[in-house]
Amino acid sequence: MKKVYYPVGKVGEIPPGTGKQVCVGSDPDCVLYCTEEGRFYATTLLCPHQNEPLDRGRLEGNEVVCRRHHLRFDLRNGDCTNAGGYWLRTMEVKIEGEEIFIGQWED
Ligand code: FES
Repeated sequence: MKKVYYPVGKVGEIPPGTGKQVCVGSDPDCVLYCTEEGRFYATTLLCPHQNEPLDRGRLEGNEVVCRRHHLRFDLRNGDCTNAGGYWLRTMEVKIEGEEIFIGQWED
């Protein structure tokens, strides 16, 4: 296994407080978030509760809030912070200059 970093956009292309669906390698179902504070995070697209796309979720601090039933996920580790038994897969985000990369483990 090795970690591969895929370019997903440039700093400034994603407004603070939003999430954007991006393709990471062959996986089109990922989200890149920029928090209001300007921190970048990445997760899989679908809410693990009932598959709502999280690029439409609301960002609050380091959390994304699913708009459908309001489960909250900590973008730093994927933990659901207001219900038990749910977890969201996170991915590493790396910034080099203006370029944003998301890292994924591959064979
Ligand atoms: S689908 Fe996300 S909280 Fe229910």
